[in-house]
Amino acid sequence: MSTQSNPDRILIFDTTLRDGEQSPGATLNVEEKLTIARQLARLGVDIIEAGFPFASPGDFEAVQKIAQNVGTPDGPIICGLARATQQDIEIAARALQPAAKWRIHTFIATSDIHLQYKLRKTRPEVLAIAKDMVAYAKTFTDDVEFSPEDAGRSDPEFLYEMLEVAIAAGATTVNIPDTVGYLTPTEFGGLIKGIKENVPNIDQAVISVHGHNDLGLAVANFLEAVKNGARQLECTINGIGERAGNAALEELVMGLHVRRQYYNPFLGRPVDSEAPLTNIDTRQIYKTSRLVSNLTGMFVQPNKAIVGANAFAHESGIHQDGVLKHKLTYEIMDAQSIGLNDNQIVLGKHSGRNAFRTRLKELGHELPDQELNRAFLRFKDLADKKKEITDWDIEAIANDETQQTLEHFYLDLVQVSCGDKSRPTATVTVRTPDGQELMDAAIGTGPVDAVYRAINRVVDIPNQLIEYTVQSVTAGIDAIGEVTIRIRHEDRVYSGHAANTDIVVASAHAYVNALNRLYTALQQGTSLHPQRDAEPITA
Ligand code: KIV
Ligand code: ZN
Repeated sequence: MSTQSNPDRILIFDTTLRDGEQSPGATLNVEEKLTIARQLARLGVDIIEAGFPFASPGDFEAVQKIAQNVGTPDGPIICGLARATQQDIEIAARALQPAAKWRIHTFIATSDIHLQYKLRKTRPEVLAIAKDMVAYAKTFTDDVEFSPEDAGRSDPEFLYEMLEVAIAAGATTVNIPDTVGYLTPTEFGGLIKGIKENVPNIDQAVISVHGHNDLGLAVANFLEAVKNGARQLECTINGIGERAGNAALEELVMGLHVRRQYYNPFLGRPVDSEAPLTNIDTRQIYKTSRLVSNLTGMFVQPNKAIVGANAFAHESGIHQDGVLKHKLTYEIMDAQSIGLNDNQIVLGKHSGRNAFRTRLKELGHELPDQELNRAFLRFKDLADKKKEITDWDIEAIANDETQQTLEHFYLDLVQVSCGDKSRPTATVTVRTPDGQELMDAAIGTGPVDAVYRAINRVVDIPNQLIEYTVQSVTAGIDAIGEVTIRIRHEDRVYSGHAANTDIVVASAHAYVNALNRLYTALQQGTSLHPQRDAEPITA
């Protein structure tokens, strides 16, 4: 029987917009966060952790907008993170209130190393704070999640006591974080088993797991936790997150899907039950992965499980032969199951604005009029160059326009001359935040270098280019090229992304996109980090 504390399937709690966005350079603006949240809802996640509202006014606004626009009655639960302080909890509640279903996720560390060096508190003090703050969160909503940070390195006896107190105070989900990615699968499974056996009121809460991938074990740890009673998995798209990242949603979901006969009995189902173990629409996985990668500037490695460019490419001769003879010789899942083949030719040169807008909407992009107009002009331009326009082309344009909202610097013109007998020279015109149009030119070692040097002459913000990648959206020589870059200013990293059939133009826009993010951060100041920038907790 399914109860709130014992759901009969696995709940997927997506934290791409909170823990994922905490990874260096992955900063997103409000519109980008909203676009990702809409896609997460289409993907079918149960809970979206939309951010840490106390971090900054921008973070508050993003959580509030997601609550308003994505937190519909039949949509996901919208969750906000709050440290165990009244201020954090109150602000999270205010941001989340517009959602039909919302959750406060509050946390405090329980490992001795965190107590001693980060919190400078004793165990009884931390127990009292957790009890009071869960009870305080409960005055705003029934749906309260509690996390004992660094549970993986905490004394299990103290952890059991803490969880009992948190549940008694009203926590309906208790989340067990392996904050530093230290545990092995057997240990993590054992920890969950120990919690089930030693926390007297554990049947009143859902057991959730959260883990980082420092040893590459996060997904394996979670799957072992499922076998031992965990029913909520906290994960991110493409596994993005701090350091080596979080457990990857697509790997967990496809692991549970492809091997459901193995996992079914752990959920009390018949071995051959075909009922899905999660609510995820797996055909949305590939699209979500691309969206998150484009908007965060976090490149997906080609050999990444499930969503990497090579994950379904059978390149070696022997494999191809095997696959042609019978798919199952070398394939355990179908590319279609993650939506990899959903790239139909949809529009052409004669398609009008309405057809374009309708297709965009079907793909989940609702652009405001001004951006829609710009996107349509770009579509027309592309249709002149490329006969067949696919969904991925349309999405590349739409993502690009979403990224260009709230621009401070606007690239009006880029012109390059290069070749084997000439010195690469670039001319650019950039509109600056105070409305000036500045033109300048530079020579470089190649066309992209020349463009970046020319832009640097106009936009005077020192930075270092630390990563540059180009990828094509579809096959073919006329394909759109996507450029993703990362730049460093002082000790922070900012990413930029742009798409164009001309990769030099895309490179120029990607750079200006990164400069815009950097400029925003300089203007607004950076967001508070929920785990590291802890002010003394005085709840
Ligand atoms: O890794 C961690 O411990 C966290 C908590 C805030 C849940 O992200
Ligand atoms: Zn985390």
